[in-house]
Parts: sequence; C-alpha cells; structure tokens
Amino acid sequence: MAKAKVFVTRIIPEAGLAKVRQGCDAEIWPDPLPPPREILVRRLPECEGILATLNDRLDAELLATGSKLRVISNFAVGFNNIDIEAATRMGIPVGNTPEVLTDATADMAFCLMIAAARRVREGHETIAARKWKTWEPMGHIGQDLCGRTLGVVGMGRIGAALASRCHGGWGMRVIYHDIHRNEAAERDLGARQVDFNTLLAESDFVSVHTVLNEQSRGLFNASAFKKMKPTAVFVNTARGPIHVQRDLAEALRTGEIFAAGLDVTDPEPLVPDDPIFALPNAVITPHIASATTSSRNAMAEIAADNLLAGLSGEPLRCYVNPKAEANRRR
Ligand code: DGY
Repeated sequence: MAKAKVFVTRIIPEAGLAKVRQGCDAEIWPDPLPPPREILVRRLPECEGILATLNDRLDAELLATGSKLRVISNFAVGFNNIDIEAATRMGIPVGNTPEVLTDATADMAFCLMIAAARRVREGHETIAARKWKTWEPMGHIGQDLCGRTLGVVGMGRIGAALASRCHGGWGMRVIYHDIHRNEAAERDLGARQVDFNTLLAESDFVSVHTVLNEQSRGLFNASAFKKMKPTAVFVNTARGPIHVQRDLAEALRTGEIFAAGLDVTDPEPLVPDDPIFALPNAVITPHIASATTSSRNAMAEIAADNLLAGLSGEPLRCYVNPKAEANRRR
C-alpha cells in the first residue's frame, strides 16, 4: 500500500524524523528558515499530513486548500499558529507536544529571572568590552530572589514548575493570576490566586506562562508596567505578543521596572532598530526554552506519533482538538 504523503516543515531531531520517514512518504523542508507561505500553499493540497512548527501560520484560508489533510502535528506545546476552530470544523485533528518541555522551560524562566535580577548581561558586556577595572563596592547592584514574591501569569504545568523551583529553592512567596484555580499549587506551594492588578502591584518577579489568545495579546502594556514595582523583573518565556514590545522597552528605559528577561519577543526576530537593544537591563534569548537534548528529542517523538496516529485514524497521543473526532476525515 502506498504510504501517505506528508510535509515536514523543518528538520527536527532524528528521534522523530526516523519514524516519519519509515511510516510516510515524507518531504522534509531542508532549509534552516521555515518554508515561505507560497510553499505551504503549494504543498497543502497534495499532502495528507503536515508536521509543522510554531513558525508556520496554518490559518483557515490555508487549511481550506488542504482537501486531503487528515492531521496537523505541531512540533511545540503552543498552537497559536494554527486556527484550531477551523481545523476542528474541517474534521482535522491537531496534535502538540506538552509536558516533555515543562522542566526545560521552567529552568529557562528561572535562568532569565536571575540573569536579569543580577545584571548578568551588563557584567558580561563590561568585561567583554575590556572596561572592567576592579571590584566595585557600589557597582553592578541587583535584586535578591530569596524571600521575594513571584507572580505567575498562567499557573499551568510550566508556571507551576517555575513556582515550585522558586518556592522550594529560594523560599519565594507565590501569587498567581489565572482563570482556573490551581489547587495543587495552592496546597503544595502556598500559592494564592489574585486578580491581575494585585499581581502587578505585589510581585517582585512577574513570569508569563499563559497561552497567546485574544485575551492575553498585549496584556503587558504601558498601563500594566506602570502598576509594577520599580524594582520588579518581568520575564516572558511564553509568546512575544503577550507583551507590547515598545511599551516594555519604554518601561525599561524610564526605570518603571528594573529589568526584563525575554525568551520570546514581538516580532521574532526583533527588527534591527528595536529600542530594546540599546537597553542594558534587558536579557534576551532566541526562543530556546525547550532547547535541551532530551526535550527536543521527546518533542520529536511525540510529534511523529501524533502524525502517524492521525494518518491511521487513531486518537492522537497529545490531542489539542478531540472535538474533531465528531466529523473526522478518514
Ligand atoms: C513551544 O513548544 O510552544 C515553545 O514555544 C517552543 O518549544
């Protein structure tokens, strides 16, 4: 029997790619940059499955061209790049890769918290520029973590993993803002659910772990930064558009907040003249929170399993839209 035709939009770890090659007639986009939209427009009508990344915008218009498409497997836990409602309406199951990147992402959020609070970037740049002369009693003063308050926006798996590190290791008090209560975090970490303004006012560290949707887009804007402490550190490892890039740069420039640690920006990559580049109190990494060997291998395996399950008509291993079962394409 002929193997199903699939399009894999980037080279992913062999742990998943080998399974895809074995089970499918796979075209794998070989470039380091994602395929341009016109390539997706050309490939989608031909393929029965797509293994995509967060860079591929699979909107309703594009999905409508994929008349043979029976599964979308996203190589990410986030799926804001896919119109889930349209996929569900069309009976196309969508898979993602949760859990296996929780620790790696929580570690990265913590890394950015401490790097921003302790001015690691400034210190490194001073030394690299050969400007450091001597130990300075009054120089490079940052913020403590021990005993401070962590405010988590989105107390899901990753938010709770960060809270557990901060509470257990650094004795931090945890507050959180989420539409859902996280009873385990309340019980185990003494976390307290608060409204958004209380979180902004009381937190020494604010870390974002919510999904990007119409409610969270632009949540951290000029007005939110004004409500934060001037000693506060803002961390975003979720999605760039949850903060307003120019408002964040302005809050950092004027000292409305102390520092920021960002693994995500808006846009990605930033435009070369983004004002944030001139600010020493922003530590920025290139969307690498899940970039550990074991996390990326596990993501690749799940993404491959989701793809293969989709093609064989089985429920996906990690199913974003199980409602698609009602009118699933076979
Ligand atoms: C995700 O999985 O959504 C991350 O942003 C990338 O690993």
